[in-house]
Amino acid sequence: MSKNFADALAEVPHRITNPELIPTERYFDPEFYELEKKHLWPKVWQMACRLEEIPEVGDYTIYNNLDQSVLLLHTSDGVKAFRNACRHRGVRLAHGNGHCSDEGIVCPFHGWRWNREGENIFVFGRDLFNQDLLDRAEIDLAPVRCEYWAGCAFINFDKDAPSLRDSLGPVAARMDARHADKLKMDWWVGTILPTNWKLANEGFQEGYHVMQTHPQLHERSYRAADSYGEDFDGNRPNEGLNPRDAVDLQIVNFKRLSSGMGGMVHETELEVLDRISGMDLPEDTALALQTFYGAACNAITEDARARGADMFDILKVQQEVEFNAVEYMFPHFFLLPTFGAMSSYRIRPLGPESCFFELWSLVIRPDDEPYDTPSEPTMLPYDSPDFPEIPRQDYSNLPIQQLGLHDIDFMRLGKGDKKETGRMGSGGEGMISNCHRLVDGYLAGLDDESLRKAQNIVNSGFNETVLDIGF
Ligand code: FES
Ligand SMILES: [Fe+2]
Repeated sequence: MSKNFADALAEVPHRITNPELIPTERYFDPEFYELEKKHLWPKVWQMACRLEEIPEVGDYTIYNNLDQSVLLLHTSDGVKAFRNACRHRGVRLAHGNGHCSDEGIVCPFHGWRWNREGENIFVFGRDLFNQDLLDRAEIDLAPVRCEYWAGCAFINFDKDAPSLRDSLGPVAARMDARHADKLKMDWWVGTILPTNWKLANEGFQEGYHVMQTHPQLHERSYRAADSYGEDFDGNRPNEGLNPRDAVDLQIVNFKRLSSGMGGMVHETELEVLDRISGMDLPEDTALALQTFYGAACNAITEDARARGADMFDILKVQQEVEFNAVEYMFPHFFLLPTFGAMSSYRIRPLGPESCFFELWSLVIRPDDEPYDTPSEPTMLPYDSPDFPEIPRQDYSNLPIQQLGLHDIDFMRLGKGDKKETGRMGSGGEGMISNCHRLVDGYLAGLDDESLRKAQNIVNSGFNETVLDIGF
């Protein structure tokens, strides 16, 4: 680390000094929260809306985060972002989503108006103003940087920040290979968690919690064998299972994943798995699982294409493009692929110990298939029994973790040793540390290029180890 970096980082309160220990004040200290508000959020790409929320020219929606509000407007030149504030005296112009009629967007205070391109079309009593103050650039809606990826509009308040794609790094190509831009909403739910936004992120940045929090996902299975080798009791998953039982168990596990997460394995994909479940299998269990998995990828691809969806070749992409079951895009966006569909999360801070958590089930469906796209999330209390099983289990832990963090000084992560990633608790929680150190980089005001490089590294996957992010 350069001396300049070290000096700048030394100024950050509650900074990470040991990458395996996270000072707990970072999760509740109002001063730390204010620093994030001032130095982090205004400089990062934020997922502002899914483009499908505003499909027609004139449609708009609002993205609020902290004290900033952005109007996403579908103009004749695609979706653009503007400050959601009147250019006269600052009144918030829109609330929620809507459609800009011929009358335009009208300020409720003195009646200034803007058309669906964001251009001012009416100033009441023009002659009353110094005309220099009515230049177009002064009264058209104030633009905010907006770039698209994965079917979403992202915004950034920093004119000098690297492009969205440069900031995302290799994860962008991983998800492009899976046609992330073609995903469409299946459902969308939201909840308010009494939890710091980073803690909410962290509930989904490691698989170490699966054994205890989601026991139904951790029965003997191909996936479990892949990740951890053995379970609590030292059993080798799949040992002693005949090929048929192993495949049946794999299907059960995919169903459990689906029942909680929608798109992580979509119900249309489960139907295909059921349909091919009786296929001939090799006598060797491991080979049978592999054969079934390959057949499942191909059958899901074919099923989607037969319905008219522009589905990628799932098996080919699975073999050629490495991906993670949970893909993270700093600071607040997730995609969770398995076959062709995905789940997705977005998290926004509401206060030092509160955040807004959204969860989508996303599918690749035929363009002409009629679907009533939700325009806002269905809100549920975080402890609602209506939440699907997996998020309900995660949400049950996060609030009590937030409480417990007040009682200790440091949060301990597993040992960050790359060589030991196959063993539980020995490095799979490194992404948490990587993220926190990137937050410190923003709070220290490090240069854009160093932050970009670090973000490319942080945007890795589930179960990552502690990595060198350059500072
Ligand atoms: S504040 Fe909007 S028109 Fe005056
Ligand atoms: Fe979980």
